[in-house]
Amino acid sequence: MEEINASIDIDRRLAAEDIAGSKAHADMLAAAGIISRDDNQAIQKGLDEIAGEIGRGAFAFSKALEDIHMNIEARLKELVGEPAGRLHTARSRNDQVATDFRMWVRRACDEAEAGLKALMRALAAKADEYADAVMPGFTHLQTAQPVTFGHHLLAYVEMFSRDAGRFADARKRMNECPLGAAALAGTSFPIDRDATAAALGFHKPAANSLDAVSSRDFALETLSAAAIAATHLSRLAEELVLWTSPHFGFVRLSDGFSTGSSIMPQKRNPDAAELVRAKAGRMIASLNNLLVVMKGLPLAYSKDMQEDKAATFESIDALALALAAMTGMIEDLEPDRAAMKDAADRGYSTATDLADWLVRTLNMPFREAHHVTGAVVALAEKKNTSLDKLSLDDMRMIEPRITDNVFSVLAVEASVASRTSYGGAAPENVKREAARWLNLLRPEN
Ligand code: ARG
Repeated sequence: MEEINASIDIDRRLAAEDIAGSKAHADMLAAAGIISRDDNQAIQKGLDEIAGEIGRGAFAFSKALEDIHMNIEARLKELVGEPAGRLHTARSRNDQVATDFRMWVRRACDEAEAGLKALMRALAAKADEYADAVMPGFTHLQTAQPVTFGHHLLAYVEMFSRDAGRFADARKRMNECPLGAAALAGTSFPIDRDATAAALGFHKPAANSLDAVSSRDFALETLSAAAIAATHLSRLAEELVLWTSPHFGFVRLSDGFSTGSSIMPQKRNPDAAELVRAKAGRMIASLNNLLVVMKGLPLAYSKDMQEDKAATFESIDALALALAAMTGMIEDLEPDRAAMKDAADRGYSTATDLADWLVRTLNMPFREAHHVTGAVVALAEKKNTSLDKLSLDDMRMIEPRITDNVFSVLAVEASVASRTSYGGAAPENVKREAARWLNLLRPEN
């Protein structure tokens, strides 16, 4: 029974929240005249002492005492005696754990948001530095049109900013205090739930006692936000794996974020990127784990819900680690401008620019321009050269009305420079967007 029932090995991480919750509860009980001032003083002093012991690593957690709530209460009894027995008036472990866990998840949301913003800052700074570094943009992982490295990084800044927004939204919705819902039905004592809610930084007390002790959608929302962020992190991680492969050679990771091989001395492996890519497995699994635990539970509390913490801690720990590693890799990495431009040149990435030129200059229908361009690309392929290195005569063999002016659009730099539409890849757009983000992400904002 002890093996399956005890949760102390996991919920000891709620110690700080549990002590804060108990202190607020005892203060409220004293203010409402439910316990005496002297008893409250003894409780406050004892709880501070316990916080110190836990901080110093001097607290003996006991499995026989099941969970963090009983461990702390038992120690309080040892320290202050009878008043400790009055602390649990007008509350239950059900509202206690719901409150502790909400506070823990609330802080996790704040930390996730801060971690995402640090990553966004690193990405925006690199984007600013490489706003004009031409690289091939891909669809189907085939060379499509030239973009810039900065533009590519800013795509991730947009994704991570939505992730940060999801954590902020979840935090707002979860910020109602369950304490005082007691076991499930509230209490007959004249408690002041507004006081405990305010003391613990909640916006208001949760309005329905059954909901207060039995809902875990605040954790589910947080795990959803983490799972979605994990998919974004894994996509960026995958790009780092591709870009650092010698077959791409777009980016060099720092020595600090590369590992060697025990047998192949030439290797610089992107282990951290691969692990960030893999951590998505844990984060997605944790969400699924808690969804399945919560599905079909009747109101109010059931012990099933004790499993909420392992899933949540696992996901939040993985997210923090993945964010820190990704931020470090982005800060340190060195893009290779020449290799990226070379790849863009090699992939006929300005074919769309040629087609657009035919439409604009010769008033050709786009479908026909697409066909003519296909023939020009085939010729360049045959001559093993890029579009801008073909001669005018070569192109005129396919479409005699083509003029010298066409060369103004065939170079990859000209192509990206022309993408000035809102949200487009032009370096001037990228510069402006990077500056906007860096300004928004200043720590004081
Ligand atoms: N350790 C329990 C949990 O995490 C605390 C609540 C226990 N409540 C109860 N009625 N047994 O869910």
